Amino acid sequence: KKETDPRAPSNYADLISTLPFEEGWAPALTRKYQGFWIPQCFLPGIMGMQQNFKARPDDLFVLSYPKCGTTWLKALTYAIMTRVQYPFDHHPLLGQNPHECVPFMDRTYSKGQASELDAMPSPRILNTHLPFSLLPDSIKSLDCKVIYVCRDPKDVLVSRWHYNNRMRPQPIPFAKAFEMFCEGNCPYGPIWEHVLEYWEESRRRPEKVLFLRYEEMLEDPLGIVKRLAEFMGCPFSPEEDKEGVVEEVIKLCSFDKLKSLEVNKTGKLDPNFSLTNDSYFRKGKAGDWSNHMSPEMVQRLDGVTEQKLRGSGLTL
Ligand code: A3P
Repeated sequence: KKETDPRAPSNYADLISTLPFEEGWAPALTRKYQGFWIPQCFLPGIMGMQQNFKARPDDLFVLSYPKCGTTWLKALTYAIMTRVQYPFDHHPLLGQNPHECVPFMDRTYSKGQASELDAMPSPRILNTHLPFSLLPDSIKSLDCKVIYVCRDPKDVLVSRWHYNNRMRPQPIPFAKAFEMFCEGNCPYGPIWEHVLEYWEESRRRPEKVLFLRYEEMLEDPLGIVKRLAEFMGCPFSPEEDKEGVVEEVIKLCSFDKLKSLEVNKTGKLDPNFSLTNDSYFRKGKAGDWSNHMSPEMVQRLDGVTEQKLRGSGLTL
């Protein structure tokens, strides 16, 4: 059993080795840290980030439960923010994966490359999968804007299962993944607590926390992209509307477009990482759970979700 990550800085390794761990999502060994199952490989980075990260007031945070559409939301926010800077036919998103345009802070810190975040010009768009309660304090004290995306937990499980299977010689038996997920044991889980923290925060401070669902992004990309731009403080002008700029953003960030790009077919975020970028573009649809789950499984997981969210005003 691997109990410590050799890359953990020594000051965190001792603490990390005391945290409860789970191996079922291997190769992602997860540890229960402050109530959530965090992949061990990111824990040293996350702890360093919680202590040291300095937000800027104009930072925009794209946050999500993993497998809820982070890649898409990164592409959309980045394309919206930089639309005046770059023409759509020579856009950085054509040559870079969205995770390169909007860094995943947990990984950046884990690689000891936090200075890259400091070097980014403002306004920065940054991403972490941490729940609200674990975010570095400065993000909260500066009242930074946050965009959060969630998704039907059944599709999150299916997406996660496929993603982790790509890193394994043998797939995780789906029934086992299902059990773990229903217990709240999934990377960055339990999903319900994660979602509820942001849901409640978005109700408290709607001008600072925008709460989105993957399914509504699929249903009404036009409406969502306009809402995103307004929330970000750079709404589309009537001229841009007339010239079809909103549609250009949607086209550039569409599943088919991004999936077809060479960088997203064969590229890698990190030469040491086993996965190629195509792992971020699988099916891009809602409802793939129906191809994986028995009616009993659907009933049980829907039941857990219903029970966890009861009284919150949120349905998933
Ligand atoms: P599926 O596995 O169901 O296909 P994340 O980016 O948070 O890891 O989420 C990954 C999920 O978002 C995957 O879902 C992936 O296919 C989907 N996705 C990625 N890019 C997308 C896009 N541009 N439009 C719609 N869905 C996208």
